[in-house]
Amino acid sequence: MTHPPSLVSVFAPATVANVGSAFDVLGFAIDNPGDTVIARRTSTPGVRITSIVGDNGKLPLSVDENTAGVSVKALLSAYRNIHPTEASEMGIELELTKGLPIGSGLGSSSASTVAAVVAANELLSTPFSRRDLLPFAMEGERIACGAAHADNVAPSLLGGFVLIRSYDPLDVIPLPSPEDAWVAVVTPALELKTSDARRVLKRSVALESAISQWGNVAALVAGIFQNNIELMGRSLEDRIIEPERAQLIPGYAAAKAGALQSGAVGCSISGSGPSVFALCRSHEDGKRIAAVISDAFAQAGVASTQTVSRINTTGAKVISKE
Ligand code: HSE
Repeated sequence: MTHPPSLVSVFAPATVANVGSAFDVLGFAIDNPGDTVIARRTSTPGVRITSIVGDNGKLPLSVDENTAGVSVKALLSAYRNIHPTEASEMGIELELTKGLPIGSGLGSSSASTVAAVVAANELLSTPFSRRDLLPFAMEGERIACGAAHADNVAPSLLGGFVLIRSYDPLDVIPLPSPEDAWVAVVTPALELKTSDARRVLKRSVALESAISQWGNVAALVAGIFQNNIELMGRSLEDRIIEPERAQLIPGYAAAKAGALQSGAVGCSISGSGPSVFALCRSHEDGKRIAAVISDAFAQAGVASTQTVSRINTTGAKVISKE
């Protein structure tokens, strides 16, 4: 009989949520950067966070205030229904290493949360499938920004493009990963809290805007299935969310215009911003377009970092188990 591991290390990738038109219902994972979590079995029952590296002291160690802590507690509580005695005696310590800047629009809180629940699940000998881990990870999003949206956690957990058709009941649909797509992602050195970027949104939508939006979302999904990045690119058009949030990102209008003039097939805000992503035809295009976006931010007085990636198809990865 194999013993369950006592230490597990997991990497979970950054994600681009919304993908232009599909606010709160679509996201995809990229290869890098991401967050790493080590989960360790201990003899003291309960969940603890022993260290967080790379957050400049911004994230709470308190389990009930930390997205990863809350999610692992939710997982342990569900495990209690399967193995009550083992769950009540189980102790889990978490060490978080942030590769993702906080408030960057790359699903920073989600990546830590996903890595933590995948690692904890491994410590328990995987009682839950990847798909079953999603509601636990969504509990982390609820405390991160007040809304348990899944468009970051689902792709970080499962990889690829993931569509959330419905939140109640949860109906999550993994989509194919278009092989021809490259993504340039540029992250300005600004922190934008998702809760603030949600607060600026209007609560109602004009019918004309809604018609345009669902046309674009449907076409985006068709483009993903057809590996048709031209169709995907023009379907990123977002008449509802982007106009409100663009004002929160200095240099955004110039960055987007520059990206499109330089050959990007589409460009929009990544998640709730301030990161910007551009859909590109090749790695070379991606590098050139990332530099153009970065220059536009520099013109607005904002430094930035950049990455070019394919769509990540694996999601969170177990790095080691002992
Ligand atoms: N769909 C969420 C939002 C993603 O745009 O608020 C946050 O990363």
